[in-house]
Amino acid sequence: MSRVAYVNGRYVRHAEAGISIDDRAFLFSDGIYEVIEVFDGVLFDERGHLDRLARSAAELRLKPPMGEAALKFVLREVVARNRVRFGHVYLQVTRGAARREHYFPAADTPPNLVVTARPHDPVAGDAKAHKGIAVITLPDIRWKRPDIKTVSLLPNALAKQQAKEAGAAEAWLVGADGFVTEGASSNAWIVDGEGRLITHPADSSILSGITRARILEIAAVKAIRVIERAFTVAETYAAREAFISGATMLVMPVVRVDGRAIGDGAPGPVALALRGAFHDPMTSVG
Ligand code: PDD
Repeated sequence: MSRVAYVNGRYVRHAEAGISIDDRAFLFSDGIYEVIEVFDGVLFDERGHLDRLARSAAELRLKPPMGEAALKFVLREVVARNRVRFGHVYLQVTRGAARREHYFPAADTPPNLVVTARPHDPVAGDAKAHKGIAVITLPDIRWKRPDIKTVSLLPNALAKQQAKEAGAAEAWLVGADGFVTEGASSNAWIVDGEGRLITHPADSSILSGITRARILEIAAVKAIRVIERAFTVAETYAAREAFISGATMLVMPVVRVDGRAIGDGAPGPVALALRGAFHDPMTSVG
């Protein structure tokens, strides 16, 4: 079965889908995106993702391409046409196509909307979680608004590649002040010696993850204490556990950071419990 993409009102074969070479995201990274998990056919935490999309659009003064009901319909249609039961749906909105000039194009320039979906093997994800991943730390060289989910991901891509070449699955980005902000494509967490979850506050220096928000809800239900504060690389090395969160990897235990074992070098019980509860409606307070 060939993959199907939605591009500006049409469902087309993925391999034949295209966008203008004048697209503002191609020229200037002038676009935003979301990645939403499809869990047993359901768009998980769709509300949070659509709210964040609207926020990203407002921050960049980007016109929404369509109303929310229509967008929800398109997301479901792309999931259905690609027969995705477990996987992800990707959506990207750009400021449209216009002759290359830095300032915004004419107000009537239509935004470009692309939606794709792809399956993901949940069993493979769980197997990976039970092994845990390695992380390296790198300087956070991004711009000062990573709270906006833009497609401007070059520093993130460079960091991910460096991690891969070092045999790691993620890079934790460290600010000039020595504190870990987040992962190149995930939020970063540690568990301290008293079993408390520590993660960077959702200010302008990180992306406020929808998965992160869900973990905070689960922690509240399970009476796990949480401290939203920045932590250092040294604290990470000394942590009892570490993990990352994001729509593609959910809660993924981290067992090595910069080659040092975290805790006993195996996925920690807090991270695995959070992962185990992730899709459980009983742990949702909202
Ligand atoms: N990345 N921080 C960054 C820099 C991210 O790119 C992501 C997600 C997150 C976690 O956000 P959420 O929990 O809402 O997925 C944090 C997506 C999955 C990606 O770029 O593929």
